[in-house]
Amino acid sequence: MSKVQSQSISIELKNPNGVKEGYEDYSGKLPSTTRKRLEKYGIDLSKGYPKRPNEIPLFLDDAYKIRNQVNPEYVERGIGADPEKKALFSGAKQVVNLTKYIGTEIIGLQLQDLNEKQLDELALLIAERVVVVFRDQDLSPQKHLEIGSYYGEVEVHPLTAQVLPGSTVVWDKFNRGGPLIEFQKGASGSYWHTDLDHEFSPAGITHLHLDSIPSVGGDTGYISGYAAFDKLSPSFQKFLEGKKAIHKSAHRYYKRDDLLAGPQHLEREHDLVVTHPVTGWKSLFVNPAHVVRIVGLERDESDLILKYLNDVFAKNLDIQVRINWQGSGPGEDGIIKPVSVLWDNRISQHVAIPDYNDSWEGSVRHAHRVTSLSIPTKFDPESKSQREALGLDKK
Ligand SMILES: [Fe+2]
Repeated sequence: MSKVQSQSISIELKNPNGVKEGYEDYSGKLPSTTRKRLEKYGIDLSKGYPKRPNEIPLFLDDAYKIRNQVNPEYVERGIGADPEKKALFSGAKQVVNLTKYIGTEIIGLQLQDLNEKQLDELALLIAERVVVVFRDQDLSPQKHLEIGSYYGEVEVHPLTAQVLPGSTVVWDKFNRGGPLIEFQKGASGSYWHTDLDHEFSPAGITHLHLDSIPSVGGDTGYISGYAAFDKLSPSFQKFLEGKKAIHKSAHRYYKRDDLLAGPQHLEREHDLVVTHPVTGWKSLFVNPAHVVRIVGLERDESDLILKYLNDVFAKNLDIQVRINWQGSGPGEDGIIKPVSVLWDNRISQHVAIPDYNDSWEGSVRHAHRVTSLSIPTKFDPESKSQREALGLDKK
């Protein structure tokens, strides 16, 4: 029998997500409206744009350490806000509900000008209506972050590109490194999801600000988790209440002691039915992109139930809204003014609709995203569903 000598092997690990640290040189490709906004608000583009963090974690244990606890300073801003939202609505020209169950547009207000009372009322409105739209905005990247910090700890992503720490760049030209595939065959083209639900404290309010808008297409779809819960029978609702589900991260990292296992997702457990702390309404907290299994069930049972729940979200158009970023179209200068959409991830799924082509100047979609993390949202057995609380079935 021959002796096997132990040998050391050195392996150079590359980030499994295929990203590079630091500045990228895409500033020359910025759409003109974005460039004007960044220059107006003093963003230095001389070193490049955008910038990824300098020390992107490679290992799962390092990624798990990021924000791995409840934020003791978190304040749920919508609690105690005026139910009539007088301070917010009094300054608006118009407040329009976009569908019966989800989505409201506020016309004639600048987010940049809102005071804390108005922001509290806006948090309440988002909790009730899930998604709120503001068009024709003039919003600095700095103020965007300030509003986000008011609503919670701003998520600073360990690897996505940013304009400022905590303001993620959403720009297909950069993120995809090429033109968008504007039409996909088959039934898998849509990617309904919830942002950052793998975090210990999942995303609360996300504020997406588009400063370059395609002349057609690039809409975003949203679905209400409250209404999805209300679509279920009372006995199925009871079965789901108290269950927990595992949510995986979008990005992957290596297991330090088992590199050969390959890149792995972070996984965290959250209540499957949650009670929103502001409205007190129950919501389904699942999505097809990140929720991998229901704890305590056999794999087949879990797969079947998750597929059904995700079908309830995707197939009921009465609980969805499709936000069109173009609004009334370009102004006299031919430019569509920036639009902000704020939504609550704890009670919704959303999808960016990939039906536009960003290969020419007038059709580039460029956005900054600021996400305010909440604290883990729990199920309250005493809480009610939206229809129950509002008495909608009695009318
Ligand atoms: Fe998203």
